[in-house]
Amino acid sequence: MRQVNLGIIGGGTVGGGVFRAIQRNGALMASRLGVSLSIARVAVRDAKKARAVRIPAKLLVTDWHAVVADPAVNLVVELMGGTTTARQVVLAALKLGKPVVTANKALLSAHGEELFKVAQQHGTNLYYEASVAGGIPIIKVLREGLIGNRITRLFGIVNGTCNYILTRMKDEGADFAAVLADAQRLGYAETPPDLDVDGHDAAHKTGILASLAHGFWVNPRHIYTEGIRSITRQDIEFARQLGYTIRLLGCVKTANGVRHKPPHPHRQSAIQVSVYPALIPNSHILANVNGVFNVVLVRGDVVGDTLYYGRGAGKDATASAVLSDLADAALDLKYKSNRRVPPFVPHERDGAVLSIDDVVSRYYVRLSVVDKPGVFAKIAAALARAKIGISSIIQPEGHEGETVPVILMIHDAPNAAMKRALAQIAKLAAIKGEPVMIRVENLE
Ligand code: NAP
Ligand code: HSE
Repeated sequence: MRQVNLGIIGGGTVGGGVFRAIQRNGALMASRLGVSLSIARVAVRDAKKARAVRIPAKLLVTDWHAVVADPAVNLVVELMGGTTTARQVVLAALKLGKPVVTANKALLSAHGEELFKVAQQHGTNLYYEASVAGGIPIIKVLREGLIGNRITRLFGIVNGTCNYILTRMKDEGADFAAVLADAQRLGYAETPPDLDVDGHDAAHKTGILASLAHGFWVNPRHIYTEGIRSITRQDIEFARQLGYTIRLLGCVKTANGVRHKPPHPHRQSAIQVSVYPALIPNSHILANVNGVFNVVLVRGDVVGDTLYYGRGAGKDATASAVLSDLADAALDLKYKSNRRVPPFVPHERDGAVLSIDDVVSRYYVRLSVVDKPGVFAKIAAALARAKIGISSIIQPEGHEGETVPVILMIHDAPNAAMKRALAQIAKLAAIKGEPVMIRVENLE
């Protein structure tokens, strides 16, 4: 095979980026691969729409079926987003034995197991490098580079939109809504952007990474997920004063909260898979990942710590990851080696996700307190009853008024115990509003 014909479904931010990147580096790729990539057709919703990247009218169609079924199309690239029609597109292509490249983490999170099985049944492959962490080749790292390791820790800043928002809130004191609008304009955000700011996009990606790292498909419903809507400039500022930066963090950890013993010595216990905003020490490299950049820290039992950094969203970073998959798929077609690196190999029969209630964390807590004698004693007593220790208390000066903010830094405690203690504290007459609780991660 000397030429692979691509049928691309979606000509928006990522589709446009892929079209432009192939125009720019297609010849370079052909000389490296010995096979050229040719865009046969691009399906869009509205062929008349003005596009940031112009796609020749002769390539545009509005019927995705026609693209997938076209006998001239050897490889289908799903860049439309969503989980309903996109699932039909991917299934239709795989059932025709055509390999598929997708950037769609929501689709994989919801239907990955099914799609991988159909790919296997039809002797073809599903490639998804662009689904996690934009331009960082983290899927290849986990599937190939670190195949000889058991993964004991994985931390990721994997949502570019949230990192962009949190960075600008910290650096410029910018307003949440205004920065989100900028992230949408720059093509970073999902449609709708709630997927980003409520943590679901990061959960989709963290689930994919956890599944690859631990060999069982993580059910997205088991991933504890918090977004960044509740993060205020006040908390960002207090965190700064304490030497921390707030980031939306995906965590995949083994042996944290050891309530669940492994059923067999060679099998793993339940793992933590969660997404939440966290205070990260400023001295840690992850606290210095700013703007749309993503980072993934992976600890393997053989290799130790490894770190991967790059742009996490936007047309060019994502196009780079799609091109990497196109190269793999083209070579697999050329050498008829479609199953050389299968998309996902389930090998952990007893894999399970730990309930967040059993996860042990440190915490930053902000209370709005009526400044009266004896209040601290009552707060400390509620925590002591739950066997929870306070590592420091700060009542910043210059907040005179009816209520004052009080910041508590809390030692390691199970999430369930912490939640119960805060519910008791919230009932105290001197506490106004809901307590704010943000986990503290030292990334050990
Ligand atoms: P987008 O800009 O909204 O583009 C979606 C494209 O799909 C549009 O061209 C749209 O056509 C087309 N489309 C929608 N429904 C269609 C249908 N039924 N038939 C044919 N075409 C249809 O979205 P995007 O940002 O490129 O994202 C695409 C995918 O990449 C999503 O899964 C997203 O999660 C993922 N992703 C995005 C980024 C990023 O930074 N944006 C990064 C990584 C992964 P029209 O143009 O005519 O409306
Ligand atoms: N909306 C996603 C993000 C796009 O902001 O990270 C990249 O997957």
